[in-house]
Amino acid sequence: MFKLNQKIALITGASRGLGWAMAQSLAQAGAHVVLNARDEKMLQQRVKELKDQGLSAQACAFDVTNFAKAQQSIREIEKQWGRLDILVANAGINHRKPIQDFDIEDFDRVMKTNFSSIWVLCKAVTPSMIEKKSGRMILIGSMSAINSRPTISAYVASKGAVHALTKQLAVELAPHHITVNCIAPKPRL
Ligand SMILES: NC(=O)c1ccc[n+]([C@@H]2O[C@H](COP(=O)([O-])OP(=O)(O)OC[C@H]3O[C@@H](n4cnc5c(N)ncnc54)[C@H](OP(=O)(O)O)[C@@H]3O)[C@@H](O)[C@H]2O)c1
Repeated sequence: MFKLNQKIALITGASRGLGWAMAQSLAQAGAHVVLNARDEKMLQQRVKELKDQGLSAQACAFDVTNFAKAQQSIREIEKQWGRLDILVANAGINHRKPIQDFDIEDFDRVMKTNFSSIWVLCKAVTPSMIEKKSGRMILIGSMSAINSRPTISAYVASKGAVHALTKQLAVELAPHHITVNCIAPKPRL
């Protein structure tokens, strides 16, 4: 449908699931994909799978909740390639407990992984995208933020925040020719 040749794309949570599927699609469209997750060994396996198909990829393992490391990794990608054209902020977790049994530590972990890290990543990629007058941020939300279900209060709060942040950044960054969009997958039942 379209070509992404010469584009550099970072996909967080790319070692399996939706992140891996999106990484494959972006690579097949011609982008050089930088695959992120915490498990370095798994990422290297995924990079090999892409390279075996003649596609262009590298691994970049970090925990998105380690904000300093996440920012440093963005700087390194920009230094290596001179730019980062596409950010797919996909890494996410869930934790299921009725709210009365939900530990604050688990709430913080879900919010930090699913939302705060996305704010940090968007902030980190913005300066170079503004400089290039071009950029694409794709944030992964969830239909759960719209049609809620019991026991996932932290997840729903985090995804609702992602949806709100998408709209806010889309408005804030539009003058710089940076688009910010959200994909809200329908949850597995
Ligand atoms: N699948 C669905 O039905 C569905 C529905 C709606 C929304 N979503 C959203 O879509 C996204 C992907 O979901 P999925 O089901 O494909 O997830 P998944 O299969 O569980 O994969 C999660 C990915 O994120 C990585 N990850 C988790 N915590 C991380 C961290 N702290 N730092 C870096 N990477 C981390 C995991 O690798 P490591 O463990 O190695 O770090 C893995 O690559 C999530 O944001 C999810 O909320 C999914």
